[in-house]
Amino acid sequence: MLLAQIKNLNKKFQNQTVLNNINFEIETGQILALAGESGSGKSTIAKILAGLLTADSGQFNLNKLDFSLVNTRPKTQRKKVQLVFQNSLASFNPKYTIYQSLTSPLEEYEIVKKQNDLKNKIAELFELVGLNDLNLMNRFPHQLSGGQIQRAAIARAICCEPDLLIADEPTSALDVSIRAQILSLFRKLTLQKNFACLIISHDLLSLKNLADQICIMRAGEIIERGFTKDILNNPTEKYTQKLIAAIPSLNPEDQTFYKFANY
Ligand SMILES: Nc1ncnc2c1ncn2[C@@H]1O[C@H](COP(=O)(O)OP(=O)(O)OP(=O)(O)O)[C@@H](O)[C@H]1O
Ligand SMILES: [Mg+2]
Repeated sequence: MLLAQIKNLNKKFQNQTVLNNINFEIETGQILALAGESGSGKSTIAKILAGLLTADSGQFNLNKLDFSLVNTRPKTQRKKVQLVFQNSLASFNPKYTIYQSLTSPLEEYEIVKKQNDLKNKIAELFELVGLNDLNLMNRFPHQLSGGQIQRAAIARAICCEPDLLIADEPTSALDVSIRAQILSLFRKLTLQKNFACLIISHDLLSLKNLADQICIMRAGEIIERGFTKDILNNPTEKYTQKLIAAIPSLNPEDQTFYKFANY
C-alpha cells in the first residue's frame, strides 16, 4: 500500500540548489534507500521530511494526509515521521536517563496514559529493539555502548508508532561487527510494525539485502531509482556503475554481513 509520496521537492541554501525536483514514493512495509555521494542532499531530504527543515517547495502525502513541506508541521504530523541519526549519543539529552528519554515522548504524545504502564511499555520497546538488560533504562546515554545507544534511539523513534522511520546513516558510527545486526533490526521492525523505512547509506553492499528500492542521488537529484536488485545488477547510469564498481565485492559468499542478515 502506498504510504508516502514526495512530490517536486526543492531546496536552496544561499542560492545554491541542494535539492532539485525530488520525487519518490514508499510503500508500507518497505525499505527505501537513498544512496549517493557526500553532499548530494540525502540528509537534507531526511531533515525536511522529519520537519527539522522547511523546503522551498514540495508536497508530502503521508498516509492520506496531505501537507506542504514549506511550512513547519504540527506536532501531530511530526510524530508520524521519526528520525534516527548517525550519532545517537548526541541526540539524547545527557541529563536524562534512557527511561526519562523514552517516557517523555510517550507522555507528550499520550501513547501511554497511565503512569503505571510506562515501565511495561519501555520493557516492551526494549525487547523489540534487542536491548536485553532492563537495567539499562536507568543509565545515562554516555553509559551505554554504541550499539546499545543506537538500539535505544530506535526504541525512542518507534515508541510513537510512526508511519515513516528515517534513518540517516544509522550504522556508520558503529563497529563493523554490529552493523549488520542493527540493519536487520530495521528490516524486522519495518515488517513487524508495518511502517515504512527510509534508510540513508553510502554502503551499497549492506543495502543489497536490506532495501527493497534504491534511489541514487547525485548533486541534488535522484538520477536513478528502482528495485535494489535491478539497480545493483543492471545500473543504467554511469555514475551508479562507478559506485558499484567501487564496492570491494558484491559476492554474497564472501560477506559476513549475509550471515547475520538472513532474516
Ligand atoms: N544548513 C546549511 N546551510 C548551507 N548549506 C547546507 C546546509 N546543510 C547542508 N548544506 C549543503 O547542502 C548540500 C547537501 O548536504 P547534505 O547534508 O544533504 O548531503 P548528504 O548527501 O547528506 O552528504 P553526506 O553523505 O556527506 O552526509 C551540501 O552541499 C551541504 O554543504
Ligand atoms: Mg548526510
